[in-house]
Amino acid sequence: MSWMHKKAHDALARIREAKDKQVYPYFRQFESGGLHATIDGKPIINFSSNDYLGLTTHPKVKEASIAAVKKYSCGLSSSRVQATTTAHVELEERLANWFGFEKCLTFTTGYQAMVGTIMSLADKDTTLILDNLAHACILDGTFMAAGTPRNAPEVRFFNHNSARSLRRVLKTRERENALVCIEGIYSLDGDEAKLSELLEATEEHENAAILLDDAHGTGTLGKGGRGIIEKYGFEGRVPVVVSTFSKTFGGIGGILLGDADIVDHVKHFARSFLFSASLPVPVVAAAATILDMLEDHGEALVSELHSKAAYMRKSLLEIGFDLGDSDTHIMPVMCREERKALFTHVAMFESGVMMVPITYPGVKKGEERLRLNVTRGHSREDMDQALELLKLFGESFFILSGEELAPMEE
Ligand SMILES: Cc1ncc(COP(=O)(O)O)c(C=O)c1O
Repeated sequence: MSWMHKKAHDALARIREAKDKQVYPYFRQFESGGLHATIDGKPIINFSSNDYLGLTTHPKVKEASIAAVKKYSCGLSSSRVQATTTAHVELEERLANWFGFEKCLTFTTGYQAMVGTIMSLADKDTTLILDNLAHACILDGTFMAAGTPRNAPEVRFFNHNSARSLRRVLKTRERENALVCIEGIYSLDGDEAKLSELLEATEEHENAAILLDDAHGTGTLGKGGRGIIEKYGFEGRVPVVVSTFSKTFGGIGGILLGDADIVDHVKHFARSFLFSASLPVPVVAAAATILDMLEDHGEALVSELHSKAAYMRKSLLEIGFDLGDSDTHIMPVMCREERKALFTHVAMFESGVMMVPITYPGVKKGEERLRLNVTRGHSREDMDQALELLKLFGESFFILSGEELAPMEE
C-alpha cells in the first residue's frame, strides 16, 4: 500500500464506520433540486438549504438563465481578465447601487471572493484579527496570506462576538494596520454579529477596519434584505463587505463591495480572481433576476421569511428544543451527541424531511446539531411536518429529555 493510499484509508475510518452502520448523511444525490427535492425516488422537504428567499427555482430565474445559455453558453473559457461580459459589469453596477457601495466586483464563488480579498489587503504591515468561529473561507484566506514569503501579516483571534476580547487583541497587536474579519450571521449557530459593539471597539483605533462576510445576512437581514448593515443602520462604517450568490441569489458566485480604489485594488491583485475562470453568464442572469425581485418587493419577501422563521422558532421552543445561540432564521437543533444527531437525521430523512447533522470536527464535541434553516419557500405544512417528526424523534432519541443513549452493541 503506498503512503498516500494508507493515509487516505486511515483518515476515512470514521466515514467507513458511519457507512457500515447506515448513518452516513452526506452527499445524498438529488434527482431534482430545490427546497422540495427528490432523493432515491422519494419526495424530500429540504431544511438544510440556503435558498433563503426561495427564489432559486423561480420560473423567471430559470428563463433568464436559459436565455443566457442561448446567448453565451455555460462557459467563457477564461478568467475575467479576458472574459468579462457586459452582463457581469451591468450586474456589478446594479449590486453596488443596491447595497449602497461605490463599487462591486463579482467572483466565481464567495469562497474565492473572501480568499482573494484577504490576500490582497493583508500584508506585513497588517494584523488580521479573526472571530474564533470564522468561516473556512476567512481562515483559508488568512492562512494563505500568512504563508506569503516576506509579506506575511500577523494573525490573531478574538473570542466569538466579544468586543472585550477584540479590544484586547487590537491593543496588543504588533502591526500598524488591523483588519477585523467578522460575519453578519454565523451559519452554524445562527447568531448575528454584535456589530454595534464590534464596530465601536474597532473605531477606537485609527488604523483598524472591519471586513464583513454577510453571506447569510444578504436577503435575510434589513428591511429590504441588504444585510446586517441595513438592519442596524451602519451604512458608511464598514468599508469592505463580501457576500455570495450561493444563498439568496440563487446560484453561485462571490460579491465584493467597497470603495472604488479598494475594489479595483482587489481586482488587480486577487489571485483567486485573476487565475480562475469567469462566473458563467447564466448564473449572472439568475442573480440579476433575483436582484430585480429584491429591488421591486424586497421588503415583502424578507418579511415573509421573518414571519415563517418566527412561527418555527416559537413552535420549536414550545416543544422544548434547545436552539443554542440562534437569533435568526438559522436554527440549529442542538442534539449534543453525535449519535443522536445522526439517528434523528436518518429517521427524519426516511420520513421525507432532510436536516443535515453537523458533527465534530465541524463543531466542538457536545455541540452536535441538526442544520435547520427556515426559508421563505417553506410552507406552513412543510414546517408542521418537520415539527411533528422532530418531536417524535426528539423524544425517541432523548434529545428532548437530555438522557444518554445506550451504548451501541458491536
Ligand atoms: C459565511 C460564509 N462565507 C462564505 C461562504 C462561501 O460562499 P460560496 O458558497 O459562494 O463559496 C459561505 C458558504 O458556505 C459562508 O457560509
